[in-house]
Parts: sequence; C-alpha cells; structure tokens
Amino acid sequence: MVNSWSLLTLAVWAAVAAVNPVFCDTYGRRLDPHGYTDSNLNVHEARSTVPVGFINTGPAPAGETLKLRLALAQSTADAIVDALYKVSDPKSAQYGQHLSKSEVEKLVAPNPAAVDAVNAWLQENGFNGTALSPAGDWVGFEIPVGTANTLFNANFSVFEHGSSGKRAIRTMLYSLPPSLQGHVDLVHPTTSFPAPVAKGEIVGIKRSVEHVRLAKRNLTADCTDETIPECVQFLYDIPLTPATNSSNRLGVTGRFGNSAHFSFLQQFLEMFRPDMNSSTAFSVVGIDGGTNDQEGPSVSEGELDIQYTVGLATNVPVTYYFVGVEFQDDGLDGYLDEVNTILAEENPPQVLTTSYGMSETTISFALTDKLCKAYAQLGARGTSVLFASGDSGVGCPAEGDDLVFQATFPSNCPFVTSVGGTSGFPNEVSWPGSSGGFSNYFGRPSYQDAAVDAFLTQLGDKNAGAFNRTGRAFPDIAAAAEGYIIFAAGLSGITGTSASSPVTASIIALLNDRLLSAGKPPLGFLNPWLYSEASSSFKDIVSGNNSVICDRTNPQPPRGFDTAVGWDPVSVDSGVSMIPADRFEGDWFGNAQLY
Ligand SMILES: *[C@@H]1O[C@H](CO)[C@@H](O)[C@H](O)[C@H]1NC(C)=O
Ligand SMILES: *[C@@H]1O[C@H](CO)[C@@H](O)[C@H](O)[C@H]1NC(C)=O
Ligand SMILES: *[C@@H]1O[C@H](CO)[C@@H](O)[C@H](O)[C@H]1NC(C)=O
Ligand SMILES: *[C@@H]1O[C@H](CO)[C@@H](O)[C@H](O)[C@H]1NC(C)=O
Ligand SMILES: *[C@@H]1O[C@H](CO)[C@@H](O)[C@H](O)[C@H]1NC(C)=O
Ligand SMILES: *[C@@H]1O[C@H](CO)[C@@H](O)[C@H](O)[C@H]1NC(C)=O
Ligand SMILES: *[C@@H]1O[C@H](CO)[C@@H](O)[C@H](O)[C@H]1NC(C)=O
Repeated sequence: MVNSWSLLTLAVWAAVAAVNPVFCDTYGRRLDPHGYTDSNLNVHEARSTVPVGFINTGPAPAGETLKLRLALAQSTADAIVDALYKVSDPKSAQYGQHLSKSEVEKLVAPNPAAVDAVNAWLQENGFNGTALSPAGDWVGFEIPVGTANTLFNANFSVFEHGSSGKRAIRTMLYSLPPSLQGHVDLVHPTTSFPAPVAKGEIVGIKRSVEHVRLAKRNLTADCTDETIPECVQFLYDIPLTPATNSSNRLGVTGRFGNSAHFSFLQQFLEMFRPDMNSSTAFSVVGIDGGTNDQEGPSVSEGELDIQYTVGLATNVPVTYYFVGVEFQDDGLDGYLDEVNTILAEENPPQVLTTSYGMSETTISFALTDKLCKAYAQLGARGTSVLFASGDSGVGCPAEGDDLVFQATFPSNCPFVTSVGGTSGFPNEVSWPGSSGGFSNYFGRPSYQDAAVDAFLTQLGDKNAGAFNRTGRAFPDIAAAAEGYIIFAAGLSGITGTSASSPVTASIIALLNDRLLSAGKPPLGFLNPWLYSEASSSFKDIVSGNNSVICDRTNPQPPRGFDTAVGWDPVSVDSGVSMIPADRFEGDWFGNAQLY
C-alpha cells in the first residue's frame, strides 16, 4: 500500500521535543535531562530522544570541524507573514501586488542589534562569519567540536543512521552564550536531524515501449491502473496548448542524487507527447555540488518530477534545482540551501514543486519555523510553493507516541501548499497513502478556519487524542497519485504524492502563463485563494480514508481519517477544470479538448 520506493515514506519518525527553556516535550511530559544539571536552565533547544533509526555512537572528536549556522533574530518576526497575506488574500486590496527581492529582504533583515552582537561574538572568538542568505539572517562559521561544546554547553556526538550508514554530528541540547541570547533564534545543525532517504528503485515495468507506441488509446481502460499524461490531462482538463510567456518558470526540486536524464525525457515526450518538440529540455541550477549527472544510474523520483512537469506544463521553462550529494552541508538534506539559493534570485520561479519531506518531529520547532518563514518570503514574491504531503497516511507512531499521528514537514507549514493524493479514473477517491492531518507545531491559519471547523464538526470524537485539533491542517489540494508511467531506461510505474505535486504545479504554471500574458500577476501563495473563491471550482473527493498499516514489530490496527464532504485531511479537492471567471476572465482551460 505504501511503496518502499516512495521517498516520503522513508521519513524518520521521531519522538521529540523542541523546548525552550523548560524541560518538557511538546506533550507536556518531563524530559530526561541526560545527566545535565543546573546549567540546563538556559537550554535553548533540546530533544528528549534520538530520532528513530539513529544510534548515538559516542562523543564527536574534539578536533573535528563543525560547520555551524546561526539564525539571527529579526526586528519583527511576523512582518513577512503580514506581507504574505496582504498579497495572497483575494479579499485584500493588495492582492497580487507581490514584493520585490529587496522589499522582502528589508522585512526579514536581522535586527541591527543582533548583527552587532553576532559580529562581536564571532570576532571575540576568532571565527570568520559568512552570510548564507541574501537577507543576512543566516551566518555560517566553522568551529571545532571541543570549542562548540564549551561555548554552547553542548555535547556534540556522532549519530549513525542504521540503514543508510550516514553519520551526523548532533547534540541533544545546547545553550546560547549570554551575549547571543535574544539575538540568535537558533544554532544549526544541533538538535535537528537530517532524514537520510534511501534511493528509490525502479519497480514494476508495466508496459513495453512497443505497447505504448502501438496502442490506440482507450483512456477508460488504460487510465484505470496506469497513469500517463493523457489521463491527468483528461481528469483536470489540462490544455495541450503551448505556453507562450518566457518569463514564466516552474521550479522542480531534485535531491539525493536523483538525476533527471535528458535522454529519458526525450523518449518520454516522444511516446506520450507526440505533439510536443521532443527536444524540449530544462535548465539545471546545481546546489551544494549538484550536477544532475547524466551518466549515473536512474532513480525514479527525479525522472518522475521532470517528466510530469516538462511533459504537462507544455513549453513552460522548467528549472531543476538539484541539491548535490554534499547536501549535508546544510545539515538538513538541502532544504536550507535550496530556499536560500532561490531567494537570492532576482526573478524566482513562479511555482516550485518538491516531492520530498520528513516527519515534523525530526526537526526542531525553531528550525521548522525559520524554514516556513523562508517559504513565506517566496510566497510574498509571487511563488506558489508546493510540497507532496507524504505517502504514509496519518503517519506511523514514533516510539513512545503510539497514539499520536505524525504530521509531515514542510506540509505542516501554513505558508506552503500541501498536495495529497487521489486514486481512480475517471471517478477519483482518496489514495490510502495520502498523508494528511494536523501539525503540533503550527496553529491553524485563519484561511482554513471554516473548512476545518466543518470537518471537525462532522468528525466528532473520532481519533480524539491522536491529533491536535488546533493545528495547521493539511493537505490543501490533491491530485492523482497512482500508477504513473515514467521512462527510465524502460517504462516503469511509480505511485505517491510525489506525482501529485508536480502535476498540480504544472496546472498552476499553465494558469500563470495565461495570467502573465494578460498582464496580470501570477497566482503566488495559493492557500487563501484555494480555500475561498477557488474552492467551488474543484472536485470534492468524498470517498476513502488514509488509514495505513504501519510496518512495526507490534502492528497497530490501521487508523486514519475518512474523507468528508468539503475539506478533509485525506484527499481534499482535485482538478482545476473551471477557474472562477470573475478573476480570470474566462474559462482558461475550456478550449482544451483531448479528442
Ligand atoms: C555526552 O554524550 C556521550 C555520548 O555521545 C555520553 O557518553 C556522555 O555521557 C555525555 N556527556 C554528558 C555530560 O552528558
Ligand atoms: C579567517 O580568515 C582569514 C583570512 O581569510 C584567515 O587568515 C584566518 O585563518 C581565518 N580564521 C579562521 C578561524 O578560520
Ligand atoms: C474502452 O474501455 C472500456 C473499459 O474497458 C470499454 O468498456 C470500452 O468499450 C472501450 N472503448 C473502446 C472504444 O474500445
Ligand atoms: C526543438 O527544441 C530544440 C531544443 O530547444 C530546438 O533546438 C529545435 O529547434 C526545436 N525544434 C522545433 C521544430 O521547434
Ligand atoms: C497543538 O498545536 C498547538 C498549535 O496550534 C501547539 O501550540 C500545541 O503545543 C500542540 N499541542 C500538542 C499536545 O502538541
Ligand atoms: C510575459 O509576462 C511578462 C510579465 O508579466 C510581461 O511583461 C510580458 O509582456 C509577457 N510576455 C508575453 C509575450 O505575453
Ligand atoms: C479505508 O478504506 C478502505 C477502502 O479503500 C477500506 O477497505 C477500509 O476498511 C477503510 N479503513 C477504515 C479504518 O475505515
């Protein structure tokens, strides 16, 4: 049901706590102080248990160099959030008036007192600080483990991830030096763990190339268990008409060596988009040494994400943001370096889709919040930031948290659009793996109040105690998740919200093309619009649930949420067949006929 090669499935489920400064976890339970005593009163961040899958193998060598990063405090941390809503809420007078790079940087620039304090502290200790983000709110420096243990009252240790063999130097808790208190939001990497992900595998060759080339397609028959571009074009009325605006861009995230091969894309287009120029390519922005290697082995995720963007968002320029194998540079699988790279662009892509994620509890709240506000910066500049919701339903219990569902990051962030999965053709029901639920980190944003309240009323007491009724609820939209046919040295099938997100991103990119060419702003941060005037345009998914069976030694009965009329945390709404005429002046996709 949940496919082993779906990257999101492999999130590390951790029992956790980001606490400051009290020694309790997010469920109010006292933490084991691990032998630390009174000095812990100033602990800035701590976690109670090592995330599932990691083993503490002992203290890190004192002389080993750490690349640490400081997040500097901002004068008004929520200024960017206010700015985001002003330009993203259709009811606002400033709707669509997205901010420039310098306007956003002004809002998130660190407090001058924080800059002074951090510079003085770096100098005093002989460190060379480097600005890591365009706004200067992240500063990096190198420090030996022994010095870091002293200055931050930490205990940096070597953690090994059993199944991947990856090594991470982390500490279970740290304090801030007195002169940095109030000026630094967090130190990273410390209590947040990367979520090493095994490379996906090519599985289940379903059709022969000859079959596809020769087939006279009958979508009703062919799309039932295999999804090719024509299936989603039909489901969502996606036009074949090429986009025309060259300033429109669609960004796709690549990680973990998941190259997208140009030659495979070409063969995919020849087979499934004979109307397109099969030489249609994409550009690559390499991050942390990423090169999108064309010689290496094929891993399905990269091919999927590129084939179902270039192959659906006809002629929209696509950029592959490819984080290299040095991704541990940022201590977080590339999330930080990627967003800072895109924020540094004068004209970022108007849509960004990412099919990677992890358990909310793997990352400390402070770091999650910082990243979430970086996505808010992109939204304020007019980028729709989409993430696959995950492939593990309501999530598998972390040790010691048997009753609690696990939200996923970054879908827990209120400033991104989380994409869940559906199943079935042409009548969609929810896909059982579709991750959805409620964050324990972020409260519910007001744009989803009415939708979520209506769901909670229908739900009654079901699943009480297993989720947080006041948390940010996800996903926000859904699209077909099952049986995508990709070309990767042959045809293979792949299932997951990993497919749903690029498909949705392609639809948004095509809408943006029409908007830009009409002299209008792109859609930008979608959620306030999705939950208000756009909501009546979507198909409501009303059948199914996301009750996954967890692969545990002591398996639990499957538990999850059922779909409901209106919003639900499974597979919300899918399809963009009719965009509200008043704002978009016409039925953009109305002319799209496949036959
Ligand atoms: C620091 O961590 C190591 C394991 O990495 C542990 O053996 C040691 O007791 C810890 N020290 C303190 C003071 O807690
Ligand atoms: C800081 O940079 C200077 C000039 O590049 C170099 O000489 C010095 O060794 C560096 N110090 C540290 C602690 O890295
Ligand atoms: C298409 O497939 C469906 C389902 O198998 C079948 O009922 C229908 O007759 C087929 N249509 C054509 C034109 O072959
Ligand atoms: C197809 O795309 C390639 C690469 O962009 C370009 O060189 C070529 O001229 C295009 N062919 C046609 C017929 O447009
Ligand atoms: C529930 O979510 C809220 C945010 O809405 C958070 O403040 C609270 O700590 C969460 N409760 C638990 C038990 O995690
Ligand atoms: C493309 O979009 C830009 C930005 O809105 C606009 O200035 C330009 O005129 C558009 N070009 C075309 C060919 O529509
Ligand atoms: C979830 O839906 C499936 C059908 O998709 C059904 O077989 C199963 O019983 C449902 N599970 C729960 C817990 O309702």
